[in-house]
Amino acid sequence: MADAGNALMRVRGLTRRFGGLTAVGGVDMDLHEGEVHAVIGTNGAGKSTLVNMLSGELAASAGRIELSGRDVTRMPQPQRARAGVGRSYQRTTIFPEFSALENCRLAAQAQMAHGPWMLWQPAGRCAASLDRAQAALAGAGLSAQAQTVAGALSHGAKRQLEVAMCLAMGPRVLLLDEPLAGMGAEETGRMLALLQQLKRGHALLLVEHDMDAVFRIADRITVMVNGCVVATGTPAQIRADPVVRTAYLGEDHA
Ligand SMILES: Nc1ncnc2c1ncn2[C@@H]1O[C@H](COP(=O)(O)OP(=O)(O)OP(=O)(O)O)[C@@H](O)[C@H]1O
Ligand SMILES: [Mg+2]
Repeated sequence: MADAGNALMRVRGLTRRFGGLTAVGGVDMDLHEGEVHAVIGTNGAGKSTLVNMLSGELAASAGRIELSGRDVTRMPQPQRARAGVGRSYQRTTIFPEFSALENCRLAAQAQMAHGPWMLWQPAGRCAASLDRAQAALAGAGLSAQAQTVAGALSHGAKRQLEVAMCLAMGPRVLLLDEPLAGMGAEETGRMLALLQQLKRGHALLLVEHDMDAVFRIADRITVMVNGCVVATGTPAQIRADPVVRTAYLGEDHA
C-alpha cells in the first residue's frame, strides 16, 4: 500500500481513459524526497501515461495529484514545471545544434519566463539563467562538455544533458521516462551514479525496463499491469511477491 507520510507528490485514484481503453486505472502512489521510486511494467502497462499525467501534459480522467499537499491535478504543464515538477522524455528532446550549456539555458529561461520563451531578456535574468544552466550541468556531471554541440555528445551524455535540462528548471520532483534506454554498461553505471546523487534533495520517479538497474538503484518499486498497480514495495518485497513474479518478473529475479 502507498503510505502518505510526508510525500512530496501524492497520487490517489489516478485514472486516464482513451475511449474504451483505461490506460491508467486508479493508481495510488507517493513520491518521497530522498528516494528513487521505480515504476516497472510491460510495454503498454501505462507507465508513460502515468508520467504524462504527473507532469501535466495529459489531463487525468479521474483522481488527484498533490504536490506538497497542494492539489495540482488540473494545473497545466508549464505552471506545474514552475511549481517543481520536472521530467525527461522517453525520446530525446535536446536541440542538437545548440551547445549543452545553451540547451540548459533555454530550459532555465523557460522556467523563469512567465509566458512564452523570451529571446530578448533583461541582462539580470540572462545572468541568472546562465548561472542556473552552469549549476545544472555541474549537477549532471557535464561541466566539461558545456561548450560541446549537443548533437555531437555521446548517447549517454545526451541523456545526462536531458537530466541537466530538468535540473535547470529547479524541480523538486524529477520524472524520468526510460533514461537508460539504449545505454551500454558504462553509460548506465554513470547515469545510475548520477541518479543516486540526485535523490538527495529530490523525489525521483524512474520508469525503466532494465531490471538489473532498477533493482540496483530503486528504494521503492511500483509494478503496473494493464494500467493498474499490482504491487508497491522495497526491491526485496517486490522480488518476493508471488503476484509480481507470475505477472512480470519471471524467474530471473527470483
Ligand atoms: N494518446 C493515446 N491515445 C490512445 N491510446 C493511448 C494513447 N497513449 C497511450 N495509449 C495507450 O495506453 C496504453 C498505455 O500506454 P503507455 O505508453 O502509457 O505504456 P507504457 O507502459 O509507457 O509502455 P512502454 O513500456 O512501451 O513505453 C497503451 O495501450 C497505449 O496504446
Ligand atoms: Mg512508455
